[in-house]
Amino acid sequence: MKKECVLVCGGAGYIGSHTCVELIQAGYDVVVVDNFSNSEPSAIDHVRRITGAEIPLIEADCCDREAFRKVFEKYEFNSAIHFAASKAVGESVQKPMLYYRNNLTSLMNLIDLMHEFNRPNLVFSSSCTVYGEPKKQPVTEQTPRQEATSPYGNTKKISEDILRDAMKAYTDMKTIALRYFNPIGAHPSALIGELPRGVPQNLVPYVTQTAAGIRECLSIFGDDYPTPDGSCIRDYIDVVDLAKAHVAAINRMTQGKSEANFEVFNIGTGRGVSVLELANKFQQVNHLKLNYKIAPRREGDIIAIWADPTRANTVLGWKAERTLDETLESAWNWEKHLRGIE
Ligand code: UFG
Repeated sequence: MKKECVLVCGGAGYIGSHTCVELIQAGYDVVVVDNFSNSEPSAIDHVRRITGAEIPLIEADCCDREAFRKVFEKYEFNSAIHFAASKAVGESVQKPMLYYRNNLTSLMNLIDLMHEFNRPNLVFSSSCTVYGEPKKQPVTEQTPRQEATSPYGNTKKISEDILRDAMKAYTDMKTIALRYFNPIGAHPSALIGELPRGVPQNLVPYVTQTAAGIRECLSIFGDDYPTPDGSCIRDYIDVVDLAKAHVAAINRMTQGKSEANFEVFNIGTGRGVSVLELANKFQQVNHLKLNYKIAPRREGDIIAIWADPTRANTVLGWKAERTLDETLESAWNWEKHLRGIE
């Protein structure tokens, strides 16, 4: 029997490459389109190595509608996942138009082409950033969305709105938006992981690069927040677990289980971890000493947010499985593999 195929837009990136592995291991074929603006083609070679699968890889920009159209003309698939977006919060403040243009044009092209070519199922990468600074923890999908604190965050909010309205009109299509909390870690093979360009802006890549001696010292941005240890709290979700949530979303749509044609799920562990806790745990599980200092607060940071993942657990049938220890170990293994550290 011919396998179901999934188009993975931005499949060479951090979350995209892990999702390709999980899709293939769940029995799907994948086709990847990527413009390599923040990824490397070699990631797909590594996915091929992990899975033994053949993966068509098309270099194209999803904002280029004619190039994107060719992918629809050539390949048969019923489902697509949209990872092809820019994601640096700070850069989005400096270059808002780049973020609005990239993130919204690629999504609108994808919706148009899926509608035109009768490809019904779409998974969208949303973010807990849509909740802003929540008044109550943990956040459920009913927690009100708030005004975005960056152009990047706003593209996620606007994308959700575009999808909600498009799905009202295109009743033969379905979308699941996954609101990711903070993805970290790497594949247990250490063959794929996060590849930040330049100085990492996110916590765990900065931690692993500091441990590897590439950065001198980790700055912990603020220890005077109204939290138990004064540092910010996040819900760190393992990237392999996160990848599996996409498989669950695709299964749900292809098996006709969706209860509405636009659905939203929080994808987190339900556990809030502070920056200091994470830094200490990283040292403990990897048996090393991390050079870190307390630094001033970073502008725009949310104090605390963690997920109520009940809806994903019960309705989507997905649950975070890897422990924070395993995830932090995998993050360090990946950094060591990249740097050739024994
Ligand atoms: N942090 C440090 N030092 C660093 C880097 C980060 O202390 O060098 C702290 C931050 O202040 C924050 C926490 O670690 O308290 C996590 O920071 P990240 O930059 O890793 O993640 P954010 O929660 O700021 O942002 C992430 C994603 C965004 C997304 C957002 C949703 O990177 O894409 O979650 O809340 F929008």
